[in-house]
Amino acid sequence: MKKTVQTIRKAKGKNQITAITAYDTLMADFASRANMDILLVGDSVGTTALGFQTTVEVTMEMMIHHCAAVRRANPSCLLVVDVPFAQAHLSPEESLKQCVRLIQEGGAEAVKIEGDSALEGTIAHIVTSGIPVMGHIGLLPQRINDLGGYRKFGRTEKERDSLLRDAKAMEDAGCFALVGEMIEPQTTAKITSSTSIPIIGIGSGNDCDGQILVCTDMLGYQSEFNPSFVKTYANLEETILSAFKQYGKEVREGTFPK
Ligand code: KIV
Repeated sequence: MKKTVQTIRKAKGKNQITAITAYDTLMADFASRANMDILLVGDSVGTTALGFQTTVEVTMEMMIHHCAAVRRANPSCLLVVDVPFAQAHLSPEESLKQCVRLIQEGGAEAVKIEGDSALEGTIAHIVTSGIPVMGHIGLLPQRINDLGGYRKFGRTEKERDSLLRDAKAMEDAGCFALVGEMIEPQTTAKITSSTSIPIIGIGSGNDCDGQILVCTDMLGYQSEFNPSFVKTYANLEETILSAFKQYGKEVREGTFPK
């Protein structure tokens, strides 16, 4: 059954929403066959697949290219794409134009915007045009150059209040759901109970309406990069390395092809 924004909205309060990232047709097809609710073409494509150090280097053209590849899998999941670095901070009219490109050229069904209450007006403008928006609060990887490193958010009362304000502003702007990244679990619980839209956590504990993981993290592609909150459900680094080595060995030995 095709998942839509309405499917996600209705899932508030059940802690059942499943979301995962995908950057190409193959991974999108797997996620769809595994009955994931949301497929996110995250700008984490930059650090996981394109060799960048941060997501700041990821451009609109790259997001459209990868989103279109995911679209070609015709996934049953709701297809959400990240608005890349700074594009949501242009004027509301310019930001809307960028979102239209992600929908029309990338084939996404919704966009995700990293930010805080300052974006309420821009998000409302985009939502009013008919583009569903998922907000993203807490750790905002697109601000890494300002933050200086990754850390948990919402540990102090000041940060907790500010996250609650951000969540409320995004809800008021018309977001259909929010990603909460690296938020102190007690703060996550407060945000979840005080908003009417689903909160989808990553590294933010269990008191939300669902979870999202980066596909390459949970598949164990890179043992040297493993955020503490990630559970690895496979060890593809080992599987792929050993398959490549075996293939090389057999070619050199002359045992493949026979
Ligand atoms: O880009 C991404 O993969 C994300 C997830 C961490 C939610 O934004």
